[in-house]
Amino acid sequence: MNPSPANYSRITGTGSHLPPGRVSNADLAARLAADGIETSDAWIVERTGIKARHFADAGAQTSDLAVHAARHALEAAGCRPEQIDLLIVATSTPDMIFPSTACIVQRKLGMHGGAAFDVQAVCTGFVYALAMADSMIRTGLATRALVIGAEVFSRILDFKDRTTCVLFGDGAGAVVLEASDTPGVLASELHADGRHVGILCVPGQVAGGQVTGDPFLRMDGQAVFKLAVGVLDSVSRSVLAKAGRTADSVRWLVPHQANIRIMQSAARKLGLPADRVVVTVDEQGNTSAASIPLALDTAVRGGRIARGDSVLLQGVGGGFTWGAVLLDF
Ligand code: UT7
Repeated sequence: MNPSPANYSRITGTGSHLPPGRVSNADLAARLAADGIETSDAWIVERTGIKARHFADAGAQTSDLAVHAARHALEAAGCRPEQIDLLIVATSTPDMIFPSTACIVQRKLGMHGGAAFDVQAVCTGFVYALAMADSMIRTGLATRALVIGAEVFSRILDFKDRTTCVLFGDGAGAVVLEASDTPGVLASELHADGRHVGILCVPGQVAGGQVTGDPFLRMDGQAVFKLAVGVLDSVSRSVLAKAGRTADSVRWLVPHQANIRIMQSAARKLGLPADRVVVTVDEQGNTSAASIPLALDTAVRGGRIARGDSVLLQGVGGGFTWGAVLLDF
């Protein structure tokens, strides 16, 4: 029998995990130089704000990073794995083509029986997954969800393409979202525009027992940059209006961590000072679907985001996809 519909859903615990292998810009520049490819710490910091990223060892899969993050979130929420009745993993780098990474994580956590599935919305994946979990809790399809963003983007990077390989990293973040009588998630909005499929994609596919086509991430950085700045502003205003709130009521902006310049522009457009923006891109790079829950957990554990704070999550990425969630933490 399905649980009763809830008035709200609320985050009761956050967690995250970075693989131990930290790669500084200087480390990466040295690696690329061995192949005759030139880049520098100065270029990467100036254009992106990234100083380092973490890469998982060859033996670590997305589900392994996800399980670490999930355990931290469950512990923070004071919740046992068997109390979870919905598990969503947002990822573009699943362990297998199928089954879903969510089912693999479910098994590794020793859970069974609840719904488990992956969401594929690239860097907007966590925002999509959180909005879906909120809807499912409010309609009575679930009571306690584990929502994870996890990636091993290092596996799909072309280390001969300096325009993309310096930008991304690996990691995972998670939240426990529970039915609640107090808010919670206040408003969400999700969008996509498939006309822009080609500006950020991994075009390869598996057929006839082989990867056919190009298996690496390809991006038109400037096109993504321009689109991102516009859609993030409009979707943020839209969720604020839905919740009857104004931008100055936002205590913390937790944007997708792609580029410090996009984040600063988003904050500026909303009239938010830089010290209300959570930034982790400097030490983590762009971890795609993992970046927002990683940033959220970093700010919660660092004592910045406190209970009751108003938090605006902003996602944008391949598809083209974008979305936002406004919540009281
Ligand atoms: O999570 C998904 C969302 N993704 C994003 O949000 C990414 C959005 N885009 C961006 O963040 C930026 O467009 C980039 C960081 C990718 C690039 O920054 P940019 O300021 O748009 O640089 P650019 O592409 O205009 O390139 C400027 C120059 C070029 O050289 P020339 O043509 O001016 O001689 C590039 O070849 O920088 C060169 N360049 C590099 N130089 C050193 C490109 N990559 C590198 C590099 N190191 N790694």
